[in-house]
Amino acid sequence: MKLLHLSDIHLTTPGSTIGGRDPRANFERALAHALKDHHDAELMVITGDLSDWGDAADYQWLKQRLDEYPLPVRLCIGNHDRRAAFLSVFPDLADDNGFVQGIHDTAAGRCLFLDTAHPDTHAGRYCDDRLGWLEARLAEHDGPFLLFMHHNPMPVHLAPSTRFACSTTHRSGVSSAATGQKSVTSSSGIVICLWPDPSQAFPSHRCAAPITRAIRCSPRPGC
Ligand SMILES: [Fe+2]
Repeated sequence: MKLLHLSDIHLTTPGSTIGGRDPRANFERALAHALKDHHDAELMVITGDLSDWGDAADYQWLKQRLDEYPLPVRLCIGNHDRRAAFLSVFPDLADDNGFVQGIHDTAAGRCLFLDTAHPDTHAGRYCDDRLGWLEARLAEHDGPFLLFMHHNPMPVHLAPSTRFACSTTHRSGVSSAATGQKSVTSSSGIVICLWPDPSQAFPSHRCAAPITRAIRCSPRPGC
């Protein structure tokens, strides 16, 4: 199964640039590249920072663009996004507590999309309500699981990631749930998040160029 992972597309109003780059134009290039070279992908996931300022207009443009795109796409939100504005355009992506969390089954396993955003901070958070949702989803399925989120839930030993990671107290919950150490015994899987990415290795590289990678996942036995 081929999975496409994009992150940090940082959409802005038409004509606006970030560090001299045009996020919408670069996103269009990434979409075209995916169709040209990875049209056989089963799923594309964009793990947050969809809009640079969390503007509803960016989310409306994104929805219109994805509605006409032939590959299935799922979304997470990041520290630049605004949850309320996002959900005003994508209301079906809210969980029962109003967080942007959901499920998508693939040949390689069950994808879980986590909401690690928190207002007024760039660091990640994963509160008890969200952790409860994750534990329930892990408990109701045999896996394997692929967990997607914007903020890394574990140390990656690269200095910038410390600033943007899930805070220490929130990090332990999601990572221990994901590795089966907290009320979860059957989960095994892959955690896919923003970090590490090229912008931390090259700090002058701004996020207006989407981070893109194609991942091949081994399907479950029998799939
Ligand atoms: Fe970003």
